[in-house]
Amino acid sequence: MPEGTDVRTAEVDGRAVSVGHLDDHVTALEVLRSTGCTGPKDVCGGGVCGACTIQLDGTPVASCLLPAVALAGRTVTTVHGLSAAGPHPVQRAFAAADALQCGFCTPGFVTAAAAFVDRWRAEHGDVAPPRDAIGAALAGNLCRCGAYDAIHRAVAAACAGEHDDPAPLVGARHDAAPKVRGDAVYTADVRLDGMLEGVVVRATAPHLTDVALDLSVAAEMPDVVVAPMLAEGDPTVRFVGQVVAAVAAPTLDLAAQAAAMVAVLGAEAPATIGLDAAMAPDAALVFADRAARKGAFGGGEQQAIPARWHGNVRGPVRLGWRGGTAERRITRARSASDPLLVETTFETAGQVHTALEPHVAVADVRADGTVRLWASTQAVGDLARAVAARLEVPVGGVEVIAEHVGGGFGGKLSMTDEVVAACLLSRVAGCPVRVRWSRAEELSAAGYRPPTRSRISLLAAVDGSLAALRLDVESDGGTSIGASAAAQSLLLYGRTPRVVRDLDVVSHAAPGCAFRAPGGPPMAWALEQAVDEAAHRLGTDPLELRRRWDGNERRHALYDWAGALPAWRDRGPVGSSSGRLRRGIGAAMSSWMYFVDPGTEVTCEVRDGRVVVTCSTQDMGTGTRTVLANAAAAVLGIDPEDVDVEIGRSSPSHGPTSGGSRTAASVFPTTTAATEALRDEVVAVAAGELGLAEARPIDGGIAHRDGVVPWKEALAAAPGVRGAATRGADLARRVVPFGDSQAGRGLTGAVHLCEVEVDTRLGRTRVLRAWAGLAVGRVLAEGPARSQVEGALVQGIGYALFEERAVDPHTGAVVSASLEDYRIPGMADTPEIEVHFHTEGWEHVPGGGVGIGEVAAVGVAAAVGNAVHHATGWRPTVAPVTPARLLEGLGS
Ligand code: FES
Repeated sequence: MPEGTDVRTAEVDGRAVSVGHLDDHVTALEVLRSTGCTGPKDVCGGGVCGACTIQLDGTPVASCLLPAVALAGRTVTTVHGLSAAGPHPVQRAFAAADALQCGFCTPGFVTAAAAFVDRWRAEHGDVAPPRDAIGAALAGNLCRCGAYDAIHRAVAAACAGEHDDPAPLVGARHDAAPKVRGDAVYTADVRLDGMLEGVVVRATAPHLTDVALDLSVAAEMPDVVVAPMLAEGDPTVRFVGQVVAAVAAPTLDLAAQAAAMVAVLGAEAPATIGLDAAMAPDAALVFADRAARKGAFGGGEQQAIPARWHGNVRGPVRLGWRGGTAERRITRARSASDPLLVETTFETAGQVHTALEPHVAVADVRADGTVRLWASTQAVGDLARAVAARLEVPVGGVEVIAEHVGGGFGGKLSMTDEVVAACLLSRVAGCPVRVRWSRAEELSAAGYRPPTRSRISLLAAVDGSLAALRLDVESDGGTSIGASAAAQSLLLYGRTPRVVRDLDVVSHAAPGCAFRAPGGPPMAWALEQAVDEAAHRLGTDPLELRRRWDGNERRHALYDWAGALPAWRDRGPVGSSSGRLRRGIGAAMSSWMYFVDPGTEVTCEVRDGRVVVTCSTQDMGTGTRTVLANAAAAVLGIDPEDVDVEIGRSSPSHGPTSGGSRTAASVFPTTTAATEALRDEVVAVAAGELGLAEARPIDGGIAHRDGVVPWKEALAAAPGVRGAATRGADLARRVVPFGDSQAGRGLTGAVHLCEVEVDTRLGRTRVLRAWAGLAVGRVLAEGPARSQVEGALVQGIGYALFEERAVDPHTGAVVSASLEDYRIPGMADTPEIEVHFHTEGWEHVPGGGVGIGEVAAVGVAAAVGNAVHHATGWRPTVAPVTPARLLEGLGS
């Protein structure tokens, strides 16, 4: 901050802070964060998401749009200041209701909600507001994890005065307290001494060959370092936004100026954008030869199944059973115009992860070749190995740190460009470098769930059985391959004769990547709507038809639960709702595999008289810390709050990646075993130290001949004692190559119901209520488990109704590159949600429970589609069901 007599100050959380001169062009958010106040988050930069919310003289405002000087003479309260005199009731309420997941939006939400609660109580007393009032008050805040329903509950409870007691700040989630206080440290908050700011240079043309970079002008600028990032041996640009170089400087502005000096030279070549263009016989090839195809990005969570290429089309990858029978039956039914043959083409748009913490990395590559890397990643261990390979240094010399991760959803599983750029720049500069995606970069070049076009043929027999199924899915994933939407249908409806085919159609567009339940939602959008249509034509209850066709016993319990819900039981016939606002209810089912990482290691030791559990994994909001703490606490019969959990580092052991619904089933039984080993050792040591006869462990302590020694005392007598365990395999079988993981026996199940209201005049669809039934065995962490299910529902509603990654059809450039243009669900879009867990059926799995995150996401959009059909009689085939599509479909 320049010195001067006119420097203005503000009172920020009770301390005087300089906010600069009148002519400074910095935002309030920049000034606050530069003073170490990292509670307010920098997410959208456009006043859309509310993550940067502060209170200005008690009124919530977006600090990213506010000039810093506007704070002068004002009182500023951030999330940190809210708890200056003890936690605000809203902070307690958020923790108690588990109104948070990754926690990146939480400081902004808490700050806005506190202002609302204080005002509401002053005006109305201690009464809960109507749901709409809370939704309206917090409409300026977004949560990509989808914690909205819990936020509704938390705010209502705080308004009703249910959290006024000055009790300790504890919640259902082990890391709730630092998150609601704004103290949780994310990679986006990391600042190292002497750190440079890095930016990348992105291609502005969709297709260039023989590319060369002229970095000379940028490299000669004072204090600037540059690093080329074109793939060796492949000097080709294949999409707008492709990273070709990286630049770092002491300030972001200088780095951007230097980046603008980088010349990207090359021969412009024809580009092909979109499914139809890419499949045309004369389409420009994205990958010219076999060698180039090896550079195609693997966009799935698993390795792509090998397949032949034909131009820009890879595949089909053909799977199924009794495929000949299925084809013959379908062909015959088509010839006979069989009304029980449902044949429809469904389409889905691209869905962007847009985690609120962007992709960000801070790399410190030292002269001795060792690396410390802070990264917003779902895979600290995998990332350390990938970085070591990229920099050609020993794996043991790379440490990846991700203490808290502000959301991932599959978009942060691999070594992405910001990590490579930060590492390369740091190695050149000899000092730490940070590279962080802007929201526009996050929305345009950080991955997405690819758009799909699915052709389905589903044949029901007159006896009501499922006779045949065919599903062809074309996936429009830009330069990525590895589509698996059609393959996902193999998890449903037993051994029905079927043939399913996945095609990767590559084009000159940014690559897609894994997104929560890769392939699942687009598959269900087609298959679960086709099943609904078959039920309609058969005149059968759609849930009953699924029960008949579904061989999965666990899901039968869910059909019982769903079928008994009054909203389902009392529904009218399809299209019976009339008038402008029409209501309907739809159902869909889901399935997923259960995975574990058999190499998962957990250590448990006594430190400073407390139990400390350590695992090289991470928590992106899914509740991993809570699962670890719960497992250890259950063994000792103590409160999970009395267990410390250390995760978020790639060393010292092996831990699971947070993806594919594998984490909980990997860490829970391993922690149990490690804690049991620790417990037995503590009993032995403490018995010796304290002279206990006939010592044995019981809940809460050590029983001995003359009484009980509580764990606290026993742990104090056994410093440094350790227990360790490795997960081990459940079944020696790998269904598909899946990194370190193994697929176990059994499929998870879910049934979703959504009730909608369709405005037939404006074309708007609202989900009013939603139900999610899950068959995933024992619930290992109650609050986070429920929150994951609710979050998946919210993301599914977005997929069904709003979210559409839009690209320029000529260049492939993304035109929905802000949170105004790419709409994700907000508070007011969120229905009341009821979650039901069926906990039986997984007794063969150590720990008794399996993953939730993926199966909770698969069928949501299809349930919304079926509800729209039930309400209107018109079946939506293209997602999202925008007002324009709906009105066109209704012929309005
Ligand atoms: Fe809201 Fe993750 S908890 S964005």
